[in-house]
Amino acid sequence: MATILITGGAGFIGCRLSVALLAAGDDVAVLDNLHPQVHPTRTVPRNLPDEVRFVPGDVAAASSWAAVLATVRPDAIVHLAAETGTGQSLTEPTRHANVNVLGTAAMLEALEHSPHRPGHIVLASSRAVYGDGAWITNEGTVFYPGQRSAAQLDAGRWDHSAPDGSPARPIPSVAGITVPEPTNIYAATKLAQEHLLRSWTQARQVDLSILRLQNVYGPGQSVTNSYTGVLTFFARTALEGRVIDVYEDGEIVRDFVFVDDVASALAASVRRPANRLVDIGSGRPTTIGAVARIVAEACAAPPPVVSGRYRHGDVRAASCNIDTAAGSLGYEPTKPLTDGIAAVLDWMPTAAEFRAR
Ligand SMILES: NC(=O)c1ccc[n+]([C@@H]2O[C@H](COP(=O)([O-])OP(=O)(O)OC[C@H]3O[C@@H](n4cnc5c(N)ncnc54)[C@H](O)[C@@H]3O)[C@@H](O)[C@H]2O)c1
Repeated sequence: MATILITGGAGFIGCRLSVALLAAGDDVAVLDNLHPQVHPTRTVPRNLPDEVRFVPGDVAAASSWAAVLATVRPDAIVHLAAETGTGQSLTEPTRHANVNVLGTAAMLEALEHSPHRPGHIVLASSRAVYGDGAWITNEGTVFYPGQRSAAQLDAGRWDHSAPDGSPARPIPSVAGITVPEPTNIYAATKLAQEHLLRSWTQARQVDLSILRLQNVYGPGQSVTNSYTGVLTFFARTALEGRVIDVYEDGEIVRDFVFVDDVASALAASVRRPANRLVDIGSGRPTTIGAVARIVAEACAAPPPVVSGRYRHGDVRAASCNIDTAAGSLGYEPTKPLTDGIAAVLDWMPTAAEFRAR
């Protein structure tokens, strides 16, 4: 039996990971501050199994680390605690840097002074670190377009074009090959987490698994946090019988990966300590417009409307190649998108319950 500490373990992914680890016979502890944006009632979620040792605390506070490490001697730490609002990070950069960057540094400082160190740290990083990643022209020239300008977005020029103006298409990211180029502050803080952890773990001979997650969805995602979880947000809108507002031209590309597939990948990392950097997605890119249509249809809601609105810092396309994860972790996503959406809709509270809140 291994002891696993999950920071942010009361969140969407952490609850499912706890279930997976407990099922494998591990002893699971969670450090979580029950962030009000994620947990409006500030209570431990029902999704977190009773067998988990819950330690309330803030990853950015040395006192929280002292409290948790006084009673938990983790063989591995899975670091999930984070501020995750992409758009919000532009207006509240201190808050994001404090939890994501300083919180990671505080964890390392606590471990540095602890008589017990875990042999392995697993980080849930994000596809956001790639920004818009690499694109390729029809002639086969690869380039990194960087962030779309406000002028470009205002003009409704959604897609990137090659430096000579010719058309181009996105290439799925490949961890270790695609160069990270964050285009928003959340993404920059997730990349900073990777750098901090790599520096410390190499110096202290601790294994580090970095899993760059694509868009995770599934039952249990916060329905009240409007800053994350586009699919959950769409489901809520459609269940209320309202029209889903689809940004840009509806052709934004994402890779939606079911939460239990992500939990399996994290659990497999815990099982196989190593230094690794992998992308975790479904390996199947889809457009936001297509997801909106599937959700609306399944709820018998009005058809989605493409509004041409946009958010600064949103990338045009994100998807990944999962071959490295398959080789390193035996990772194999199991949930087709339509089945995953059906599972979300089954789980979501009814529209009437939303209105009652
Ligand atoms: N959900 C996704 O689509 C996705 C995609 C890529 C990466 N990730 C990463 O996965 C991790 C988990 O994401 P999630 O979707 O489960 O998010 P979530 O918001 O559901 O869970 C995060 C948990 O962290 C806790 N937390 C926040 N600030 C904290 C602090 N200062 N101290 C202690 N706990 C704190 C929250 O209370 C919450 O329980 C995050 O690091 C996120 O960056 C998620």
